[in-house]
Amino acid sequence: MEDTNRSWYFVERPAGEPDADCFELRAADVPEPAEGELLVRVEYLSVDPYMRGRMRDSESYAEPWDVGDVLSGGVVGEVIESKSDQYDAGDLVTGEGTWAEYSVLDAGDVAPVDPEIADPPAYLGVLGMPGRTAYFGLLDVGDPNPGDTVVVSGAAGAVGSVVGQIAKLNGCRVVGFAGSDEKIRWLTDDLGFDAAVNYKATDDYGAALEEVAPGGVDVYYDNVGGPITDAVFTKLNLDARVAVCGQIAHYNAESVPTGPRKLPQLIAPRATVQGFLVGDYATRFEEASEQLAAWVASGEIDHRETVVEGLENAPDAFLGLFSGDNVGKQVVRVAE
Ligand SMILES: NC(=O)c1ccc[n+]([C@@H]2O[C@H](COP(=O)([O-])OP(=O)(O)OC[C@H]3O[C@@H](n4cnc5c(N)ncnc54)[C@H](OP(=O)(O)O)[C@@H]3O)[C@@H](O)[C@H]2O)c1
Repeated sequence: MEDTNRSWYFVERPAGEPDADCFELRAADVPEPAEGELLVRVEYLSVDPYMRGRMRDSESYAEPWDVGDVLSGGVVGEVIESKSDQYDAGDLVTGEGTWAEYSVLDAGDVAPVDPEIADPPAYLGVLGMPGRTAYFGLLDVGDPNPGDTVVVSGAAGAVGSVVGQIAKLNGCRVVGFAGSDEKIRWLTDDLGFDAAVNYKATDDYGAALEEVAPGGVDVYYDNVGGPITDAVFTKLNLDARVAVCGQIAHYNAESVPTGPRKLPQLIAPRATVQGFLVGDYATRFEEASEQLAAWVASGEIDHRETVVEGLENAPDAFLGLFSGDNVGKQVVRVAE
């Protein structure tokens, strides 16, 4: 084991789009686990859009980081030292850690990783928080019925790619919005989406949607907001459900963006628009994890991780979420 531990610190609050100045890599001693804790050698760490909210000095749904904090997030790694009887040195686990080479995790909050089911980075994506978000947001909030048309924005990302596949397993017609031809091919050729729109290749999202969803939209799973959502709101069917999962198109805005005002579009379809947080479903996480693991093991749900190599590139991996660098889940490989 190394003597020193490199970790990323949050050193500057961004105005608008974050950049490299927000982050600093520092070396310190490897931390000591206390009773009930595990020292974990981080193999993969997760970068997620919600972390942008943590960079603000104001309430978001996640607690803000203070300037000077070590950056935190989901990790997968090997237990090096255990001060808990739940796990032994050598076990592979996942939980909330830090952007670092070594991280101390609370043994009560970690879950085992089974590489027989999927490679470790999948535990930060389809078998982790994003997979559970897709599962509950679609099935509980979107409430899809067989034959429904389900539209997913951010469709080729960690959450969206799972949403579309669960919707297909529920007998729906599925349409995705994503930002490159490579992503569109993945959605339609590999994941079974019925159609997908490269929103970066058109200015007229309404016309594009009319072409791929001529019968209108019964469920809209919104990961992005902005003009894609404006277009979908004009095509909602009677009793449509809108699951508001994320609004990444707005996360770097300095004031509340005012676009076309679309609430009148909800009246005639009597549409229901509901925001939700995956944490609301904490008591049912086991149900989602078991079902997602079964779907992955049987091949009914496919998944992809975009792996950025090296802890030193973690900020770039995070910033890449806003330019759509990732196909599937964006993770950083810290160690083999
Ligand atoms: N409610 C909850 O509990 C919860 C939990 C997890 C995640 N979320 C939210 O769910 C959404 C997806 O999260 P994720 O982890 O799966 O991320 P992700 O989709 O894997 O990554 C973000 C993707 O957003 C797209 N994007 C970035 N800027 C955009 C813009 N201006 N307009 C349209 N698309 C844009 C990019 O893909 P393109 O190439 O397609 O642009 C990028 O790949 C995020 O908004 C996140 O905050 C919510």
